[in-house]
Amino acid sequence: MSEPLLRLGGLGKSFGTNLVFSGVDLDVMPGDRIAILGASGSGKSTLLRCINALETPDEGLVKINGTPLLKADGKGRLRSTERDLCALRQRVGMVFQQFNLFPHMTVAGNVAEGLVTVRGMSSGKALERAQAELERVGLGDKGDAYPSRLSGGQKQRVAIARALAMDPEILLFDEPTSALDPALVGEVLGVIEQLANEGRTMILVTHEIGFAYHVATRVVFVAEHGIYETGTPEEVLKHPARPLTQQFLADHQRFQF
Ligand SMILES: Nc1ncnc2c1ncn2[C@@H]1O[C@H](COP(=O)(O)OP(=O)(O)OP(=O)(O)O)[C@@H](O)[C@H]1O
Ligand SMILES: [Mg+2]
Repeated sequence: MSEPLLRLGGLGKSFGTNLVFSGVDLDVMPGDRIAILGASGSGKSTLLRCINALETPDEGLVKINGTPLLKADGKGRLRSTERDLCALRQRVGMVFQQFNLFPHMTVAGNVAEGLVTVRGMSSGKALERAQAELERVGLGDKGDAYPSRLSGGQKQRVAIARALAMDPEILLFDEPTSALDPALVGEVLGVIEQLANEGRTMILVTHEIGFAYHVATRVVFVAEHGIYETGTPEEVLKHPARPLTQQFLADHQRFQF
């Protein structure tokens, strides 16, 4: 079997006395699409944020293609060089629930920003690339607009274009549709599905269980400070083996018809 693209080894994080998770091990192979589900407060966002060092884990490591780019010392400090953390952040792209676009920059400026500041690309080249990424998410005509003029679904597609512009090897999505009006959810899920069909590797925190069922290659359910149950979508979502997974799914399916 080939090397995992991403390996989490013994990852742990507390906030003060609040243990969020410990001992999280996860291997992500190229082309895997991992859906992470769990109750509010179970640590899904914190886990994603630890993967690209937006949050400092207390213990454990994050390896990309076998190279440990993030290592915690067990005391809440990192034993990683700035260079490794920078490489990690470039190789792992993130899309947030609240889009996190710069309001004072145009849409194209938002997408080009990282290419100029992190990659050192000329602004002309970066804007060219930004345009191509905007076209990919169906917003080729919005480059000159400001984010405040866009719908939530359009803003989230800009955020996806911004992540893609950096050529990440892995994409992390943290509830990318939960801040959206129901009518706008579909256009964002459509873009994520298109990326899935291209074979991109992704980890997706979502409450859209139907989407997870159709798009994920593996489902991870988090509870009790770690990975509580994992398996194929069929296993975890249709035939959950453990009580908290069963309860979570029953709660989420209560009002379906
Ligand atoms: N910056 C922080 N400082 C202190 N505690 C935090 C911080 N971020 C998260 N927490 C705590 O860590 C725990 C996990 O939070 P997290 O946001 O990761 O949960 P989540 O599973 O993403 O929840 P949701 O589904 O509501 O987004 C919670 O108890 C939360 O209060
Ligand atoms: Mg969250």
